[in-house]
Amino acid sequence: MSDLKSALGEAVGAAFASAGLPAELGRVTPSDRPDLADFQCNGALAAAKAAKRNPREIAQAVAEALKGDSRFASFEIAGPVFINLKIAEGALSARANEIAADPRLGAGRVAAPRRVMVDYGGPNVAKPMHVGHLRASIIGESVKRTYRFRGDQVWGDAHFGDWGFQMGLLITALADAGRIGPFLAEGDGPFPADSPVTLADLDRIYPEASAKAKADETFRDRARKATAELQAGRPGYRALWKHFIAVSRASLEPDFASIGVSFDLWKGESDVDPLIPGMIAELEAKHLLVDDQGARIVRVARNDDKRDLPPLLVVSSEGSAMYGTTDLATILDRRREYDPDLIIYAVDQRQADHFEVVVRAAYLVGYAQEGGLEHIGFGTMNGPDGKPFKTREGGVLKLGDLIAMTKAKAAERLHEAGLGAELSEADFGETARKVAVAALKFADLSNHRSTSYIFDLDRFSSFEGKTGPYLLYQAVRVKSLLRKAADEGVEAGKIVIVEPAERDLALLLDSFDSALAEAYDKKAPNFIADHAYRLAQAFSKFYAACPILIAQPPVRASRLALAEATLKQLELALDLLGIETPERM
Ligand code: ARG
Repeated sequence: MSDLKSALGEAVGAAFASAGLPAELGRVTPSDRPDLADFQCNGALAAAKAAKRNPREIAQAVAEALKGDSRFASFEIAGPVFINLKIAEGALSARANEIAADPRLGAGRVAAPRRVMVDYGGPNVAKPMHVGHLRASIIGESVKRTYRFRGDQVWGDAHFGDWGFQMGLLITALADAGRIGPFLAEGDGPFPADSPVTLADLDRIYPEASAKAKADETFRDRARKATAELQAGRPGYRALWKHFIAVSRASLEPDFASIGVSFDLWKGESDVDPLIPGMIAELEAKHLLVDDQGARIVRVARNDDKRDLPPLLVVSSEGSAMYGTTDLATILDRRREYDPDLIIYAVDQRQADHFEVVVRAAYLVGYAQEGGLEHIGFGTMNGPDGKPFKTREGGVLKLGDLIAMTKAKAAERLHEAGLGAELSEADFGETARKVAVAALKFADLSNHRSTSYIFDLDRFSSFEGKTGPYLLYQAVRVKSLLRKAADEGVEAGKIVIVEPAERDLALLLDSFDSALAEAYDKKAPNFIADHAYRLAQAFSKFYAACPILIAQPPVRASRLALAEATLKQLELALDLLGIETPERM
């Protein structure tokens, strides 16, 4: 089963071939002038150039060859170059029925499924999440779902930041505060089974320690030493570190869950620590590792680079593994455990150089095939000052706080719009959460990921305009219509496309597969977001122009089926964006 664009493209291609021209030139695209045509083919000009023939003649020959095909209602040669195609109602109705009966709502699968790892979210022990993590979570989740839906075998990994300098900072600060006496003992323990710190402690201590390390060199050196000792396996530090991890993870997981983000793997940077000695030996054996002022690095810069790239720092002068060390070892680990064809890193664009360096090093050492590692960067979510969003107090964002704030706003909006009044308190809360998640995620995903945008809760949470809440509202409206139809015993039937608004809606349903393919190829969920929005708008117009429940039975059954298919496709598109639709509002 294929969409109309492909099916018609094939027919037009065959017509090109029958006129002695290359079939690929018969490709059709949705019309630039939907008022005049449904699809267009622009290949006549290229064909004319190549064959040194008149483009109009070619277009005429192609149109002639297509005459017997009942799927076309009309062809028109526009200007010297375009063939404008209007699809016949019968063919459009057939396609609409096919989509309505398809559990995948007209969406195809990739021809050759791959094994894909999506590295996203990227939370850290003790460090609060910032907007980069929020975007990484939202974009990565959608890319993961889209890849899985299109047929790849996909794993999403949080790549928990649990091995870096922040650990040494915490240990040193807590030691100075006299909080971790028993863990400072040398030797094998045993050490206390209860955490000496809560998350609130970590939240407070980490930024203080981080600021102190910038100002106080002695403190910084002690923190570096503590990091190296932890990594070298000092038992008391390891026991303490496990508490940090458990405490951080226990608070992060429910926050992620509340915005519909869930990881298949929650591996930490530390998990690849055992692989590092072997990796270093391999880098040495391949003559890739060089000594540089007490550190050990891999040079990846090339003569034709447009910007200066630093080397990959593998071992610091204190002997610690760095961010890039664990990233490289993680590629090795993933190859051994999952053998992915592709690893996608959904990480802030500000880390583009880091990934360029890691990726080059991985290709050099042979841990991945050229093209098998891809960083998909994104811009920032900014505050009104145009700089990365901060809390009113100037601090970094805590995911939990952002969700609470957005949920309160969603509740206010629901009240304002007179929605949700019949819901129980618990259902209302759950609906407000879904509206909040839709507001946050849709605002993010409706832009191409490379654009930065300003966090504007008033606009994001509005039920009007190109927003998540508008889409949920439209979906809920269809749900209530379908419930009413069920109550009245009205059943959906065969779809027959007649009215212009029905045509538009059916054509849009048909274009779902193209939108998904584009989102997949470009790793850009905004194509799905756009589709969802256009679908909701087309439904709205259809609903205004084509009464459903009061129509005559066959028309009523057809329109009801169209509404049902629209709802299912809309919910599926939203699900691929990571947005849940409530039953009622
Ligand atoms: N934890 C990192 C940070 O906060 C992000 C991790 C991204 N993934 C990776 N493989 N480096 O910046």
